[in-house]
Amino acid sequence: MTMKVRKAVFPAAGLGTRFLPATKAQPKEMLPLVDKPIIQYGVEEAMASGCDQIIIVTGRGKQAIEDHFDVSYELEKMLEERKKTDLLQIVRHISEMSHLAYVRQKEALGLGHAVLTARELVGNEPFAVLLADDVIDSPVPCLQQLLEVHKKTGASVLAVQKIDGPSISAYGVLKAKPVEGSNGKLFEVEDLVEKPKYEQAPSNLAVIGRYVLTPGIFQELENIQAGAGGELQLTDGLKSLLKKEKIYGCVFEGKRHDTGDKLGFLKATVEFALKREDLGAPLRQFLKELDF
Ligand code: G1P
Repeated sequence: MTMKVRKAVFPAAGLGTRFLPATKAQPKEMLPLVDKPIIQYGVEEAMASGCDQIIIVTGRGKQAIEDHFDVSYELEKMLEERKKTDLLQIVRHISEMSHLAYVRQKEALGLGHAVLTARELVGNEPFAVLLADDVIDSPVPCLQQLLEVHKKTGASVLAVQKIDGPSISAYGVLKAKPVEGSNGKLFEVEDLVEKPKYEQAPSNLAVIGRYVLTPGIFQELENIQAGAGGELQLTDGLKSLLKKEKIYGCVFEGKRHDTGDKLGFLKATVEFALKREDLGAPLRQFLKELDF
């Protein structure tokens, strides 16, 4: 029997330099896709996958994230008085969503360090990590797909997408062998490398920001040295964990939007808006009328 994965960690201490000046006084995780902050998509995915404890690793200037998931009495009172029941429901739903805990990462030393910062709150149990920048649109939540593999194997499981061409260099990349009978969906990891040069990438299997990790990762993260970009990399921790435990890569079903990238953010905004009942038709019309 594997332990139920209850806790989901969201590293959110990054400075968001790619979105300056929008992120000068506002966390990048709070930028909205249509009308919902990016991080809320991830929190909803974690909850839909069965996690009921959300741990957000924050840093300086991230107060707006805590306020967002907190009760806003003034706003609720105003909406109640004005009988805006739909909006009231939306606002209440956010603060009632789940149990949230926050821990500060005092220095931006990398993703591996961010995960290590959550160690005490996670304890000695398997847990999920979600990188909010990666917004994944899928009928079965991406994290749930990984959790199904974890349930069968008890091992750490990484979300994987096949990326062809030079953009593979922006990812953690796997050397891995397909698991028999999995139809090319599941891989047993043999090695990992963070942001390899295109020519040196061991495959086209890129790690996307969803992980189910065994608590063994903490020990490894404590001992790694700074890697790519001078940061403590989660990928290096996983490489080290691989010497002791099996790790799987799961090619998930769904569409991933890289909202940490400006073009990716714009594309996601358009796609999400097109799917909306209230916005889809007029936006589609507007796009048709644009003179390219
Ligand atoms: C991080 C990880 C990388 C992973 C990527 C997925 O990189 O370090 O291994 O492939 O997220 O989005 P970042 O995008 O933070 O540079």
